[in-house]
Amino acid sequence: MQVLVTGGAGYIGSHTVQKLLDAGYGVVVYDNVTTGFREAIPVGAELIMGDVRDKLMLSRVMKDKKISAVVHFAAKLIVSESVEKPLDYYENNTMGALALAQACIENEVGMVVFSSTSMVYAGAEVSYMLTEISPTSPSNPYGQTKLMSELILRDCEKPYGLRSVCLRYFNVAGAALDGKNGQRTKNATHLIKVASEAACGKRESVGIFGTDYPTEDGTGVRDYIHVEDLAELHVLALKYLNDGGRSEVFNCGYGRGFSVREVIDAVRKVSGVNFKVVEQPRRAGDAVYLVADSSKIRKAFSWTPKYDNLELICQTAYNWEKR
Ligand SMILES: NC(=O)c1ccc[n+]([C@@H]2O[C@H](COP(=O)([O-])OP(=O)(O)OC[C@H]3O[C@@H](n4cnc5c(N)ncnc54)[C@H](O)[C@@H]3O)[C@@H](O)[C@H]2O)c1
Repeated sequence: MQVLVTGGAGYIGSHTVQKLLDAGYGVVVYDNVTTGFREAIPVGAELIMGDVRDKLMLSRVMKDKKISAVVHFAAKLIVSESVEKPLDYYENNTMGALALAQACIENEVGMVVFSSTSMVYAGAEVSYMLTEISPTSPSNPYGQTKLMSELILRDCEKPYGLRSVCLRYFNVAGAALDGKNGQRTKNATHLIKVASEAACGKRESVGIFGTDYPTEDGTGVRDYIHVEDLAELHVLALKYLNDGGRSEVFNCGYGRGFSVREVIDAVRKVSGVNFKVVEQPRRAGDAVYLVADSSKIRKAFSWTPKYDNLELICQTAYNWEKR
């Protein structure tokens, strides 16, 4: 079975490509490498340079490569940038998802696994776990583009038979345990990546945005999932669709929250480096708690995470950064 992976040159995409190859799928990566890297693409996958908004080219690739399913990662994902340039985000992410759905329908490609995000939720002011039926109300344009993409896909099942699994990732971090792949993102805003860079001397300090939140230590709380566990979930989602599963939305997290200070302490511990931390005011649009209730995906896919361990996540991220 041939799978088209848009954004497969990116961080999560390239880890997933490896898992798909390991599971025996043929993989065609479709990417414009704006934030991705050719060298991240695992051996065995073919790269086609293209833009997801280019429906004609997408359609031709699906036809020529006899594609049966798509895993759609390609997107822009910097929240602050989406606030400054919302139209770039609607164009790239939402129009990209629309073009992708149209190309799938034209070519009778009936299965899509989509990268969504916890940012689709309104977020919680108090400590509770978000379920898939918690209210959606994104606080920034990036989250809106993802929710709109989810809706486009959801509405395609009945009239066109295009079935989809939308995976709502919480905070993704870490690197492959064999050290062969990890996060290459330039100017990353992800806390564990940023802290690992600081521990390696690539940044002067790590900022904490908000120390007066109503949490135990005053900093925001997030659910961190190891990239290898997340990549595996894409393989399981594809199997679910291939077995005839209906369109669904699933949270991808471990169901445990860690504060910004706890994460910084973990990176300091695994690296042995006491890097500088700078406390700054809250950022607009940041939620207090974003923690997944992941019982739905655990049950549907009989999934047990392998790397549900904050220190292990930080250790793999730090090892990758050092290398
Ligand atoms: N990293 C996280 O913590 C996180 C959390 C939630 C959701 N996500 C989602 O996961 C997906 C992958 O994120 P990532 O962290 O791997 O980011 P990334 O930037 O490493 O990967 C994105 C890839 O998409 C490609 N791309 C972007 N726009 C494109 C376009 N128009 N046409 C073709 N290719 C295009 C980029 O070149 C890159 O290779 C994104 O959809 C993102 O919204 C990520």
